[in-house]
Amino acid sequence: MKLHGPAGPMQGSADLPGDKSISHRALLHAALSPGESRLQNMLRAGVTTAMIACLRQLGVSIQGEGSELKVRGGTWQQPKAPLNCGNSGTTMRLLMGALAGMPLQVKLTGTAGLQRRPMNRVARPLREMGADVSADDAGLSIKGGNLHGCEHYLEVASAQVKAALLLAALQAEGPTTIHQPAPSRDHSERMLRELRINVLSSSNVVRLHPNHRPLPPTNLTVPGDFSSAAFLIAAAVLLPGSQVKLRRVGINPTRTGLLDALNAMGANISIENRSESGGEPVADITARHSRLRAVEVRGEQVVRMIDELPVFAVLATQAEGVTTVRDAAELRVKESDRISAFAGEVRRMGIVITELPDGFRLSGPQQITAAAVDSHSDHRLAMSLIVAALLADGESTVQRADAVQESFPGFTRALRVLGTEVH
Ligand code: S3P
Repeated sequence: MKLHGPAGPMQGSADLPGDKSISHRALLHAALSPGESRLQNMLRAGVTTAMIACLRQLGVSIQGEGSELKVRGGTWQQPKAPLNCGNSGTTMRLLMGALAGMPLQVKLTGTAGLQRRPMNRVARPLREMGADVSADDAGLSIKGGNLHGCEHYLEVASAQVKAALLLAALQAEGPTTIHQPAPSRDHSERMLRELRINVLSSSNVVRLHPNHRPLPPTNLTVPGDFSSAAFLIAAAVLLPGSQVKLRRVGINPTRTGLLDALNAMGANISIENRSESGGEPVADITARHSRLRAVEVRGEQVVRMIDELPVFAVLATQAEGVTTVRDAAELRVKESDRISAFAGEVRRMGIVITELPDGFRLSGPQQITAAAVDSHSDHRLAMSLIVAALLADGESTVQRADAVQESFPGFTRALRVLGTEVH
């Protein structure tokens, strides 16, 4: 993809595709219900295409075009072929949890990139609960059934692992207690409570008492994805003269660490029209061009903005002072190593950035130079680099920019609707 910078101001309003994490959980919970669930504003992108295809192979009926789906599940069937999770870590990890409780023998595969990502953090506690999970070069095999609840201490604050264990816990004998080192996104807990499952949680402990009844069907409108909105918010904050309103975006506090960082940086952002959808808070977010000052991000805030850290780094290049991010080693095991891959690419654009084992440091403001950069087939890197290219003077090329299809297929269309020219 070619981009000519610096881009003009962004003006207007946009709707966001459905939240990726909530769409995955809605599909899985609906797939466990024998009744018909109706899901609106679902994310239709690479990651959910993978989840939908896997669930269909398990005998779940999923109908509908676009963002409205009808799902009827219940008892899953033995699939005839391995389930291909594509490049989606959420698909593989959440399916592992759900399959752990079923008397099936299932193989899970995916792209080479997905196979390199850590799955043992899910496999180990599922084995503790009684599932048979093994790994080889072709992927993972799970033989499920006869689970018992467990008390598990997560080594990393991973919502994917927590969500997988809650799916297993629903099907286990006795309660399951999960201790997390820091609060991670709580969409599973909220959605299961809406489905009348007994889930108790405090900031670092989640306990589920299963009732061994099939899940009831659900009727849910998925909030807009804050993690996708983050790229448009960043572009609006960075491009002089911009003012952009993003409607009905999810503002679950376990996801909005970036808003807190932007507030501390002095960004002009307002939140209006607050409401609720399916147990999740939603609101309209207006972002305006702002002068920024540098901040330090570490600890629990990192977990609340883990997917936004690459675009936060682009924001930091224009902030006055030294920006430091620590406690973010998880970035190294995402769709790419988001510390070294990001640093390597933005250096081509003339940005001076220091890689740290668990984060990065850079001082600003810095000038961004147009260059040819590469997404490493990572959707969030692709969109972060596109935002950086909008600020550069001249023509930049983002190679493998089609990675945006994984989570935000309408990204470049949204940029164009809001007034920027992207080819
Ligand atoms: C997700 C949790 C996060 C996030 C991912 C989606 C989820 O991963 O990076 O994009 O839906 O639970 P981890 O749980 O591995 O931190």
